[in-house]
This record gives sequence, structure tokens and C-alpha cells, in this order.
Amino acid sequence: MLLSREEALAALKRHMKDEALLKHCYGVEAGMRGVALALGEDEELWALAGLLHDIDYEEHPDVHPRKGVEWLGSMGLPDELVHAVASHGSERTGAPRKSKLDWALWGVDELSGLVSATALVRPSKKLEEVKVKSVRKKMKDKSFARAVDRAAIREAAAALGVELSVFIAMVLEGMQEAHEELGL
Ligand SMILES: [Fe+2]
Repeated sequence: MLLSREEALAALKRHMKDEALLKHCYGVEAGMRGVALALGEDEELWALAGLLHDIDYEEHPDVHPRKGVEWLGSMGLPDELVHAVASHGSERTGAPRKSKLDWALWGVDELSGLVSATALVRPSKKLEEVKVKSVRKKMKDKSFARAVDRAAIREAAAALGVELSVFIAMVLEGMQEAHEELGL
């Protein structure tokens, strides 16, 4: 059974207080929704995986995402969602990335950060001004948003069978839909 967005958000906020971290989760949620919508996948499931993927990050950074996997499992969330969360930290959980959902989460976790950073250097700081082309340019500029793992974005696009620009467009459109919550 899936939780409603409200229930999921309440669960997330019980474990996460930091506004920047919450914004990151909303960004990944929105990006995942965009990708699911474009690929004809389960929008609610994918968005929920994005929203909840870092649920243990603030309280248990040392074991992340192992605690989160436990919590989400005990909340009765679908195995594929719990597996996707486990596989975005495969170095700690040993869970391999297999499904499209796993790969999308792996890539969107990074790409949503790059898209936000690209918006923030626009004069308006608005997502509506961001173009796929500008995100691609920033992706090539290694000194820009250094923490973003470019390889993960490319691997995810390849695993999903879409061109890099298409993957960026899906995530950008998803995030533009959520611009109010993202404050961008
Ligand atoms: Fe994350």
C-alpha cells in the first residue's frame, strides 16, 4: 500500500528538520514524478521513492540508507520502493541497482541538485528560466556544483534507455511543476 503524500511528508518530517535537506527531498520527488510521467511508469510510487529516499540521512548519516530501509519496510511500503532506496546506497546496503526505478532514483538524486544549482545562478533564480541546454553546459563545467556526480546522471540515462537531454528535460519539467514548494 502506498502512503498518501501527506502521510509520507509527515513521516519524513518526523526524522528530518533541516530545510535544505527537505528541499532536496522535494526536488528528487518532483524529478522522479517527471521521469515516471514521461516513461509511463507509476508516478505516485516513483515520487514517493524520491520524497522518502533520504529519510534517515539527518539522524543516521553514518549508516544511511540502512535505517531508512528498515523504517520504510516496517511502514509497509512496496518492496520495489524499499529496494530502490536501498540501492541508492548500494555501497552500504549491498543492494544492486536493477529496475528502472532504482536507476532513476540514482540519477535524479544527483540531477535534481544540478538543476536547482542551475536555477540559482539565473538572475531570477527561477526554474522557469532554466533550459536543458544550460543544464548540459553546467554539467560539463566540472567546477560548477562539484558535489554532483555527473557519472551517476549519465549511467541513469543509459540504464533508462533515454538520451541525456531527454533525461534532463524530464527532471526539469517535473521540478518546474513543483517550483513553489522548491522555492525556485
Ligand atoms: Fe538524496
